[in-house]
Amino acid sequence: MDHSEILAWLKETNEERLDKLWRNTDVVRKQYVGDEVHLRGLIEISNYCVRQCGYCGLRRDNGKLERYRMTADEIMACVREAEGYGYGTVVLQSGEDYGIETEWLADIVRRIKAETGLAVTLSMGERPNEDLEVWRQAGADRYLLRFETSAPTLYRLIHPSVPGKTSDRIAILRKLREIGYEVGSGVMIGIPGQTYESIARDIELFRQLDLDMIGVGPYIPHPATPLGIGQWKSAIPADEQAPNTEEMTYKVIALARIVCPEANIPSTTALATINTATGRELGLMRGANVVMPNLTPPQYRANYEIYPAKACIKETGPDCHRCLLRRIESIGRRPGKGRGDRSAFSNGLEKKAGF
Ligand code: 5AD
Ligand code: FES
Repeated sequence: MDHSEILAWLKETNEERLDKLWRNTDVVRKQYVGDEVHLRGLIEISNYCVRQCGYCGLRRDNGKLERYRMTADEIMACVREAEGYGYGTVVLQSGEDYGIETEWLADIVRRIKAETGLAVTLSMGERPNEDLEVWRQAGADRYLLRFETSAPTLYRLIHPSVPGKTSDRIAILRKLREIGYEVGSGVMIGIPGQTYESIARDIELFRQLDLDMIGVGPYIPHPATPLGIGQWKSAIPADEQAPNTEEMTYKVIALARIVCPEANIPSTTALATINTATGRELGLMRGANVVMPNLTPPQYRANYEIYPAKACIKETGPDCHRCLLRRIESIGRRPGKGRGDRSAFSNGLEKKAGF
């Protein structure tokens, strides 16, 4: 699929043609990653952040947020919970928090790897290469860092430099690959100043980076952020602005599946937030094959407020677990077994094909 085809799909409004896109995408999904939906237990280990991203509620200057950092024991209790539910992976996520010391986290990764069979995904922001190397050595398997937009001017606007740190997520993604992680990235859809054209280029970049995991969700304005209150603007003609709608998000999920057919693609919480009734299911029916049930302890959960009115904010671990299982089964899919690595499935295909 070339640039002009991707762009045409992003602008498509005809319902019948879109139906065809959803159907084709679902065939590709089934062929490459099967009917299993992998569950990744999400543990939001800290909401401290040194960065000033224009869209994110965890940004350093948001003084209204009560900050927390989980203890090692609290994290391990969540890990046990994930293991108990039969998940294959835990995802440790936080703001870019240097209160999380490199060795401290390496110890936790080593403990998880020694005591469980779980894959470990980290999502700790734009940490220095040395940290990424230490955590990989400790046994971390995957790293998530969305680039959010590949349009240079918009990227710089929403990711301002902070003292001593200029943001270059693409460089970090390449580094992660070199170090040997499975690499995940992705974008928000409908950021003010984001054009259809730039989203087409984002999708081409997914392909170019050969991403193992691709997260896509709608942009949701946060009132404690400059972007959320319209304070920062990137000038583009109104008819080129991509909308932050559900449909636009499904289009990008579907196109991501087509250009990176082997990738693990979650049906995200942001999508479930703008359509609490069926967002998760429709994401899974239009390209996605992963969900990330939230295991963060209830007393911390509300404070991991990246954007407002986040889905699952009041639910406990068992609630989220049951809810997602029911949703997976309601659409004729089944929970994944094992770690759900990208490579495992493609190796499986090769074996089946007799290579
Ligand atoms: N709306 C939607 N998604 C957001 N994220 C951050 N802020 C927002 C927002 N206001 C997403 C980013 C980030 C991920 C953890 O959450 O894509 O990478
Ligand atoms: Fe968390 Fe439904 S996915 S409550």
